[in-house]
Parts: sequence; C-alpha cells; structure tokens
Amino acid sequence: MILTLSHQKGGVGKSTIAWNLAANLSADLPVRIVDLDTQRSLTVTNAIRRDQGMEPFEMLHFQNAVELAAHIEEDSDRKLTIIDSGGFDSAFNRLAIVASDLLITPVSDKPFDLMGLQKYEEILKTLSEIQEETITTNVVFNNLNPALRRFGEIVDFVCLSEHFELMTSVLRQRVDVANSVGVGKSIREYRRFSRADREFEALCDEVRQKIGIV
Ligand SMILES: Nc1ncnc2c1ncn2[C@@H]1O[C@H](COP(=O)(O)OP(=O)(O)OP(=O)(O)O)[C@@H](O)[C@H]1O
Ligand SMILES: [Mg+2]
Repeated sequence: MILTLSHQKGGVGKSTIAWNLAANLSADLPVRIVDLDTQRSLTVTNAIRRDQGMEPFEMLHFQNAVELAAHIEEDSDRKLTIIDSGGFDSAFNRLAIVASDLLITPVSDKPFDLMGLQKYEEILKTLSEIQEETITTNVVFNNLNPALRRFGEIVDFVCLSEHFELMTSVLRQRVDVANSVGVGKSIREYRRFSRADREFEALCDEVRQKIGIV
C-alpha cells in the first residue's frame, strides 16, 4: 500500500505527518518511508534517531522516476510505503500522486494556503484527465492555532471540489510536535497522551479506516 503526503506548497507539514504516521502505523504493519524531498528532512531526522540509540525507520531514496516506478511495481498490501513528497511540482511527485492508494494533503487556514490548494487542484485535474479517473486527496488541517474554531473559506473550497475530501481529524499547532522531530522521535514516543499525541492518533485511526487496517 502506498500513502503519499502530497502538496506542491512547502512548509504545510508533509514531513511531520509522514514521520508520525510511520511511527504509529508501524505497530500495525511493516512501514517504510520514501524520502522524495530534496531537503531530505526525514533522512536527517532518521539519522538523529539512530544517533539517539533508537531503531531508525527503513528509508528509501530514488534517483529518478523510473526507480520509483520499479518500487511501486513491487508494492503489496502487506506493507505500507509512506512517501514524503517535496513541496514542489515534479515528475517524481506526480508519479507518487498517481500511484498512491491514499493521498493526504495538509493545509493550514492562512490565505496563502487557499491559493496553494487552488494551484494543487490544477495539478490533480491535469493528472485526472491523463489517468481518466478522478484523483482525490484527503485534506487535513494542520498547525492550526489551538484557539481557532472557524476554518473560513478554505473549507468551502475543499468541500466543493471533487479532488478534495476533508478529513475529520484536525492537528493543532503544538510545540511538542516540532520538538519531538528535533530529537528523532514521534510525538507518541516523545509525549504519550499529550494533546498532540491524541490528535495524531485520531488521524492514524482515520487512515487505518481508509486503508482497511482496522
Ligand atoms: N502540528 C504542528 N505543530 C507545530 N509545528 C508544526 C506542526 N506541523 C508542522 N510544524 C512545523 O512546521 C514546519 C514545517 O513542517 P514540515 O517540514 O513538516 O512541512 P513540509 O510540508 O514537509 O515542508 P517542505 O515542503 O518544505 O518539505 C516545521 O518547522 C514543523 O516543525
Ligand atoms: Mg518536508
């Protein structure tokens, strides 16, 4: 199974969410991470993890789309590949979008996030036309101000587009989230039962439902 954190906009939380999903879902089935980001954020985090004496995650890198395609060919339902795609549009990222069983797109509630999502919708439209099927990504609000209760016009845009499905889980801005990644841990390993941990576990439950590992 292939799950991709995908959005051509940078800094929305793709790597952070990929990391925590990998940690929590590895309790259910073997998980490997594909780091497609040129910044290699998760590769660095994984090295910190190893230096801290923890078992690193299996992490794969590919030089080109052909290598990624070969990996996708070998995919099976008994393992989960989590792809952290870069915050840009590329052949690599487009291949990951098309090949995924589940796409997750983090967004915030800022005005630029709506513009970013509109641009991303264009990419999904183009790929849907090529594939002759509607490609839909699951949009999750991330890094939201903990006090925020109304999500504004971005929700309307998401709900009206056939390329987006709004997830019920919401991830708020939590200092523990950034700190845990900094020491090579998931939020669950860093501060279990914290608010952030409960929010990420709720997201994992939603993902489990969607990919059928309940
Ligand atoms: N829920 C959260 N609470 C607090 N900080 C967060 C949260 N989600 C993400 N961040 C912080 O926001 C920043 C961007 O997150 P991240 O690197 O995961 O985004 P990205 O989409 O992978 O970016 P890029 O496209 O550049 O790879 C990081 O500093 C991260 O620690
Ligand atoms: Mg990233």
